Amino acid sequence: MLVVEGKAKIIVDGAFYNPKMSFCRDLDMLIFSTLGKHKILDALSATGVRGIRAMLEADCEVAFNDANPKAVEIIKKNLEINNLSAEVFCSDASILMRTKKFEHVDIDPFGSPANFIESACVHSKFLSVTATDLEALCCKTSAGLRKYSAFVLKTDVPHEIGLRVLLGFIAKTALRFEKAIYPLISWAKEHYYRVHVKIKRSSSEATKTLEKIGYISFCRKCFAKRITKFGETVETCRCGDRPILIGPLWLGELKNRDFVDKVISLADGKLKNFLLKIQNEIDYPLAYSIPKICSLISKAAPSTADVVEKLKNIGYMASPVHYCGYCIKTNAEIDEIIKILS
Ligand SMILES: C[S@@+](CC[C@H](N)C(=O)[O-])C[C@H]1O[C@@H](n2cnc3c(N)ncnc32)[C@H](O)[C@@H]1O
Ligand SMILES: [Zn+2]
Repeated sequence: MLVVEGKAKIIVDGAFYNPKMSFCRDLDMLIFSTLGKHKILDALSATGVRGIRAMLEADCEVAFNDANPKAVEIIKKNLEINNLSAEVFCSDASILMRTKKFEHVDIDPFGSPANFIESACVHSKFLSVTATDLEALCCKTSAGLRKYSAFVLKTDVPHEIGLRVLLGFIAKTALRFEKAIYPLISWAKEHYYRVHVKIKRSSSEATKTLEKIGYISFCRKCFAKRITKFGETVETCRCGDRPILIGPLWLGELKNRDFVDKVISLADGKLKNFLLKIQNEIDYPLAYSIPKICSLISKAAPSTADVVEKLKNIGYMASPVHYCGYCIKTNAEIDEIIKILS
């Protein structure tokens, strides 16, 4: 079967290919272009579609890798079909990332990227990571502890938690190498999360990264949330319940605004709309689901735009979120949100 995606022609022939991820790859091409000409390791290539598109559409130099020899054969055929030549490895991605230096590593595994992150942090300066094990990242306690050493449970805004647990895990891993991380852009969509981060070796900047890791205290009864740093105690909630700590997770920005502006300048149509939603989001880690809070207080849910406007009118930061049409981000406490919803 021959598939055309972007500027690439791809034969699939039994290698893994998910057409539903084409939106993600479309967006990646704008992101790779924004990073300028550089070298990427497509560490888990499958058909090689992402790397081939990066060569054709983002002017990148790409090395390909897949542990499966059958996939490697297909990658080589696909390079030929597209008149490209590139290095192709058939190695375990973790071993390859430790033995050879690549400026930028793309990790697009089946399920969890957790096992690849440490090796990726050894040499690379840019890291692009997909995760499809969303349950472990946002709601399944035992899987979250096993894979990401983070305590998670189901909240009213699982994707805010999940993206932050993933970034928190990358940050904690980078810190072991005295490295700082800077998220360039992150998003949650359908069945996956995708994050692109810059990594820099600097002990002073690593300290700043450490300050951006902590917990979100969460009240299971009224959905109140608070930022909680390492060593801080948790107060009893306004409702009388004892909140629970979720994390460690990333409390810093999910994106770099200047970087996202540059990506937006290359985008149009659906991609641009999606990027604008990401850019429109305030840089704050606490989010709330309006309908979930409304059902607690037995009220009909107003529109998201309405709640955001009202919060801003009384002086709070507030915005919609890119991953859900009826969730908001705000620095207002739950009492203020409830007042508005009542
Ligand atoms: C989800 S697919 C990659 C999809 C591809 N990046 C794309 O955009 O279509 C994951 C690939 O990783 C390969 N793989 C799994 N474990 C690996 C490992 N430890 N090292 C290298 N490749 C591995 C699998 O053979 C599979 O082809
Ligand atoms: Zn409470």
